[in-house]
Amino acid sequence: MRILVIGNGAREHALAYSLSRDPQVSEVHVCPGNAGMSAIATLHPDQDAVQLAKELAADLVVIGPEIPLVAGVADELRAAGFAVFGPSKEAAQIEGSKAFAKNVMSRAGVRTARAESLAPGATREEVDAALENFGPTFVVKDDGLAGGKGVVVTDDRDEAVAHIESVHAAGNPVLLESFLDGPEVSLFCLVDGETVVPLLPAQDHKRVWENDEGPNTGGMGAYTPLPWLPEGGVQRIVDEVVQPVASQMVKDGVPFNGLLYAGLAWGQEGPAVVEFNCRFGDPETQAVLEMLETPLGGLLRATAEGTLAEAGELTWKDGFALTVVLAAEGYPQAPKKGDVITGADAGSESRGIRAAGVAVKDGQLVSSGGRVINVVGTGATLEEARDQAYRVMDTVHLDGGHFRRDIALPAVEGRIHV
Ligand code: GLY
Repeated sequence: MRILVIGNGAREHALAYSLSRDPQVSEVHVCPGNAGMSAIATLHPDQDAVQLAKELAADLVVIGPEIPLVAGVADELRAAGFAVFGPSKEAAQIEGSKAFAKNVMSRAGVRTARAESLAPGATREEVDAALENFGPTFVVKDDGLAGGKGVVVTDDRDEAVAHIESVHAAGNPVLLESFLDGPEVSLFCLVDGETVVPLLPAQDHKRVWENDEGPNTGGMGAYTPLPWLPEGGVQRIVDEVVQPVASQMVKDGVPFNGLLYAGLAWGQEGPAVVEFNCRFGDPETQAVLEMLETPLGGLLRATAEGTLAEAGELTWKDGFALTVVLAAEGYPQAPKKGDVITGADAGSESRGIRAAGVAVKDGQLVSSGGRVINVVGTGATLEEARDQAYRVMDTVHLDGGHFRRDIALPAVEGRIHV
């Protein structure tokens, strides 16, 4: 099988690495990819996806990020005759339009936060009146595509107002939401219309600094599975959240095909949806795929071709996986670029290295984005997975780079309760 992956982050590096280890996969190509992936995939910077898929005669195209999905790249590829892992433009609205997602969830009877939209141009009086309906913790979301980075959760009303104003200044609507209490769960499900196959549950760490301080980021680390999740928790999320949404979308004539990512808070009444995404999450994917034993290429192809129901039970390694993100100085506000990275050269996948914001300059790997490198560790226990990841992270260097030392620590110390 010849597979083309679209995207350039650590998530796509993890996908390409897992695909390259599937005996059924003969070639892995990535467009545009990044310099850290060059040992396991052929990179194709700056090419049109449809044109490239034709040149390669790709058997499957896997679209990683939300932006091409929301723009309809999956539809263009399907129209050109390719098998595609990734939803249509219409179905990708489950991430691209919070209003679409809320509408589907409300008709499917899925528990989620109460929400109110504020359009650009809202007056200060309208903003104040809307804020009166929320708090003491304010959840302010950029309702444009923000890749998980446009959310401010704060008890400070002035900070909430400032974020509303900056989102409006960028021309996007704001969604105010009630705060959902309880630990967060990311559950990724392969979905081909009606069939829903869950992967292992994971937890992301979104704040930039240890002890969950500082602004939200795209994610600073993640681990899987979740030792604190109640028994039957994954099936409960499938039954109460993902299956009703997938079935509702089929009923609405907008079937979802690809990876449906339920971002949840597990509160007193069980799981409630914080958001849906239409693609694999980053950085959770780097940990989740490390645990998957079932060959990935066959699974993604079965999803693309609508035969997921025949794919059989997934098999998983025993133990745990954890990923830690090394971010550039100044991330998330103003990441510095162009600094030399050592200890993470291309070809370091077996040490757990997955690359994101990297490039090659004068023969050296340098930073070119906010989240730069991931290190994935595995172990029989979460402590062992942490030890392995941090042992490798301590051999990677980026001037001014920063990472969190407390990924999965609350779970290890038994501080998460549901
Ligand atoms: N882990 C957050 C995201 O992928 O949006």
